[in-house]
Amino acid sequence: MSTTPSNHTPYDAFLDLAAQRRSCRRFTSRPVTRDTITRIIETARIAPSAVNRQPWTFVVADNSDECAPLRSAILQAYPRPWIQSATAFIVCCVDHHQAWHRNDGKDHASIDIAIATEHICLAATALGIGSCWVCNFDAAIIATALNLPEGIEPAVIIPIGYPDTNAEAIYRPFARKPLNEILKWGKF
Ligand SMILES: Cc1cc2nc3c(=O)[nH]c(=O)nc-3n(C[C@H](O)[C@H](O)[C@H](O)COP(=O)(O)O)c2cc1C
Repeated sequence: MSTTPSNHTPYDAFLDLAAQRRSCRRFTSRPVTRDTITRIIETARIAPSAVNRQPWTFVVADNSDECAPLRSAILQAYPRPWIQSATAFIVCCVDHHQAWHRNDGKDHASIDIAIATEHICLAATALGIGSCWVCNFDAAIIATALNLPEGIEPAVIIPIGYPDTNAEAIYRPFARKPLNEILKWGKF
């Protein structure tokens, strides 16, 4: 028998998940397995993209020896002490040549990779795993470490791990604009 209350609709479940996803900046040492990371990336694989171009590649650095060079490049590209506790990193790369460009030239790569990135963060949340979008890093360091060809941008790094719930103030206070400030009907 299902334990889900009958009034708990898919909308309620989604709203709960979206609210539970917070930027996690403190992780325990428990590793996230490759199986689990693969399940997370599956949700990025099925994300929508402009003209279905899927212009993305997700490069993972876990604690294995083969990932050590990328891991150390990430720590150098975003030298904040808190990311050292992440047990893995997902580098979300987007190919500007593959991405759809509108007639006026607008490149949709950033939109596509943002959707996939948020799928990853929501999937991680659903699996009890903490994540944080990181864009304020030195992209040249990551591009060099991954030997990325021209046109492929490392757009987002997502440190992941199990949230350290024993740490104090693990999440920053939740602050959002009220709906009446952001929802308009018919006029801006
Ligand atoms: C596009 C984008 C870039 C971000 N870059 C960083 C970053 O470089 N470093 C960081 O600590 N957090 C970064 N964040 C996390 C935001 O600070 C965070 O999402 C926001 O403050 C709301 O908090 P919440 O995620 O806990 O709900 C970024 C978030 C987004 C969506």
